[in-house]
Amino acid sequence: MRLLLIGDIVGKPGRQICTEAIRGLRIEQEIDLVVANAENAAGGSGLTPAIYHELMAAGIDGITMGDHVYKRREIFPILQTERRIVRPANYPHDAPGHEVVILRAHNQVRVAIISLLGRVFMPPVDCPFHAANRVLASLPSDLRVILVDFHAEATSDKQVMGRHLDGRVSAVLGTHTHVATADEQILPHGTAFQCDVGMTGPHESIIGRRIDRVLETTLTYRPTHFEVATDDVRLHGTVVEVDPESGRATRIWRIAVRQAEADRLATLTK
Ligand SMILES: [Fe+2]
Ligand SMILES: [Fe+2]
Repeated sequence: MRLLLIGDIVGKPGRQICTEAIRGLRIEQEIDLVVANAENAAGGSGLTPAIYHELMAAGIDGITMGDHVYKRREIFPILQTERRIVRPANYPHDAPGHEVVILRAHNQVRVAIISLLGRVFMPPVDCPFHAANRVLASLPSDLRVILVDFHAEATSDKQVMGRHLDGRVSAVLGTHTHVATADEQILPHGTAFQCDVGMTGPHESIIGRRIDRVLETTLTYRPTHFEVATDDVRLHGTVVEVDPESGRATRIWRIAVRQAEADRLATLTK
């Protein structure tokens, strides 16, 4: 079976390319489950109920978030009632949202989705490595297919998580940096790993935001509004092929869909 994790969806351009491309991708790449990181989906930061439903309608089965999970308070009811979205598992117990959800893939296999936040160059949170142990111990023992989105800044931190969970989960895939890394691999005990699956949004930008604004503030310290950029929109993500019996990964590959390709994919489902 095949799982797709789509990298941080940034603003309207990111949502639009998802709507155009995901259904076609599901067909062409024979994807059984689509999970997307949506922490930047609402104007570049956070998620709203309307956008949550828009992403579900685009063909996404499950949503992970990140350090921007609570940027829009109106998402709290969705985080608390919906069973297709997770908050970081290494937040306090009483933080709004679920620390793990179990989804049913297209082939009917159950898949657990876990989100963890890194601690290097990021606001302080509980230890993601111990949180992973705790959440894994809480899962039904017959559940084999587990996808972990490790939302972290440092590649070293991500490699440590990959080795920590190797053989215990199907995939440890990174998000948050908005830049895809070329290190996709299957670790020795069968866990698919990649430091970062990249960004779904405008690539003519500084990680999704207008270049002129970020440059001005960086150089002068004059505050500006870091508006979402518009050009060279791409969908970035990674597909993991998993043996549903063992939960071990057998293949991993990156996908990068540019606008022309998204237009073609959109015609497949018309
Ligand atoms: Fe992000
Ligand atoms: Fe982030």
